[in-house]
Amino acid sequence: MCGIVGVTGRDDALDVILTGLQRLEYRGYDSAGVVMDESSDRLRVVKRGGKLANLTAALSDESISGSVGIGHTRWATHGAPTDSNAHPHTDPTGRIAVVHNGIIENYEELQATLPDATFSSETDTEVVAHLVAREVEGGAELPDAVRTVLRSLDGAFALCIQDRDTPGMIVVAKREAPLIVAHADGVSYCASDVAALIRHTRDVQALMDDQVAVLTPDGITITDLNGVAVEGHAYHVDWDLDAAEKQGYEHFMLKEIHEQPTAIADTLRDRLRPATGPDGSPRLHLDECRIDEGEFGRIDKVFIVACGTSLYSAMVGKLAIEHWAGIPVEVEVASEFRYRDPILDPHTLVIAVSQSGETSDTMAAATHALDQRAPVLALVNVVGSTLAREADAVFYTHAGPEVAVASTKAFTTQLAAFLLIGLYLGQQRGRIYGSEITDILNRLHHLPGQVEQVLEQDAAIAELARKYASTHYTMFIGRHVGLPIAMEGALKLKEISYLHAEAFPAGEMKHGPIALIEDGSLVVALAPAGHTFAKMVSNIQEVRARGASVLAIGTDGSTADLKAHAHDLITLPEASHELASPILAAIPLQLFAYHVAVTRGEDIDQPRNLAKTVTVE
Ligand code: G6P
Repeated sequence: MCGIVGVTGRDDALDVILTGLQRLEYRGYDSAGVVMDESSDRLRVVKRGGKLANLTAALSDESISGSVGIGHTRWATHGAPTDSNAHPHTDPTGRIAVVHNGIIENYEELQATLPDATFSSETDTEVVAHLVAREVEGGAELPDAVRTVLRSLDGAFALCIQDRDTPGMIVVAKREAPLIVAHADGVSYCASDVAALIRHTRDVQALMDDQVAVLTPDGITITDLNGVAVEGHAYHVDWDLDAAEKQGYEHFMLKEIHEQPTAIADTLRDRLRPATGPDGSPRLHLDECRIDEGEFGRIDKVFIVACGTSLYSAMVGKLAIEHWAGIPVEVEVASEFRYRDPILDPHTLVIAVSQSGETSDTMAAATHALDQRAPVLALVNVVGSTLAREADAVFYTHAGPEVAVASTKAFTTQLAAFLLIGLYLGQQRGRIYGSEITDILNRLHHLPGQVEQVLEQDAAIAELARKYASTHYTMFIGRHVGLPIAMEGALKLKEISYLHAEAFPAGEMKHGPIALIEDGSLVVALAPAGHTFAKMVSNIQEVRARGASVLAIGTDGSTADLKAHAHDLITLPEASHELASPILAAIPLQLFAYHVAVTRGEDIDQPRNLAKTVTVE
């Protein structure tokens, strides 16, 4: 989604902004722009549709300098990704410049309050520049002007505003969209994502909703909408820049696929606290818990809300929680949750799953649950993200930064985390002995090594990808633990290769989807060892009889039937627990999607139309 980088107090401000925007490219965007406060008589705005390279090319034709500026990458919501719709937007006199992430929902209503104004873009943002200009022209100081305008805005925003007549100052504000600020060595920064700033500082403050920060080279002051001094959420970023670089891999996605053994080991690490349980055995714990932990023992129902890939991890989470904790679990697309009437009370646990911890729909679902006094447990990767801060408790996946839009290591670490959450809730409800947990954990510690083994099949999987790269229709089928992985496999393939792929419960195939199968279709069948294996073998025979090529994913030791009936086979090591097998099964499907997209020459890390962090509804 959109990215913001602002800086005041550096002579090389433009470089800092452009490098910062590059670091945010992974979020997905379709135009970019900058505003620089070059001198006291004008703000220079340069903006271009398309990739950042278009902006840098335009900038190289002009000589722009200045120690204060704001940059933006836009992911179009209102108006096409053209030069004129790109941010920054200014008022007609060019005094005020604004960049914005999010959506101003009442922008048309606000435009109607300016009957004489002419707007030069189709965006929901431009009106903010007009409104702030009206306030400062009326004599208000920039921070007061911004606070006044903010009170009239509905929707979600991270806004950064510059005033030609207030040199050296940037005013920023946010509501339901992330924004961080930082001050170091006589320079103040703001950004929508910490990745843009870690080159300069690791100590940052996340603004809370309806906070306004005034940035000058001397420092940062934060107030609420009434101008009363308040604090942001200060935290230290401990991952390093290297972790966010490609390190020799051709794409971030491939690097992140190969990081999974380490990432999963990090998710599983240090989860046991020494002997406090009644049986004297170690106990599992959460990373953060701001409510009485005993609450989790009284939970009688769980909702898991998430979007995209995180939603498929939630489906495995349901199986783990029902298995170990014996609590009924419903999995729900976060964007639907608050628009119905979910039955929530203090004994309903809502688990909100999000790699970024910023996805707008997942945040909204979590807020809805908190409003109904249901405890919210956040399963997130990004430390200090909005979801992590707002939830009652947090379980971090510790996967490190994920840059490619298509999620890989965030997904498998979520799967590993859900095993631990299932065990944790089982422990809190007294359904599982500490010794049993220790035993399961000891077995799970084999997982990273097994993931390595699957990754060793990369070359063979690339070969299969080349064989099937022109397939027009691919159906993924699975049962039980195989179903969420089938769904994730289909999502990965369509996200980056743009091929038509769908997933179905294998048992549902006969109720409609099998009509799609014809010569040339590919069926990817998730058939790991387990209690649904024999049924999967039957389904494989059914689709093969109708002309499909079958690529089966099976488990070492149970492949005879698959060899007999599938055209191709990928074999996984035997998982230490059936609920851990999805972690292994996900890897070949990630590699398959990756190599199909490479073969087809697609943009792997920034697929068309998609964004890494979806901060609009
Ligand atoms: C976007 C990304 C997906 C991701 C989803 C949820 O759609 O492209 O890869 O799964 O958002 O993101 P989250 O950060 O909430 O897990």
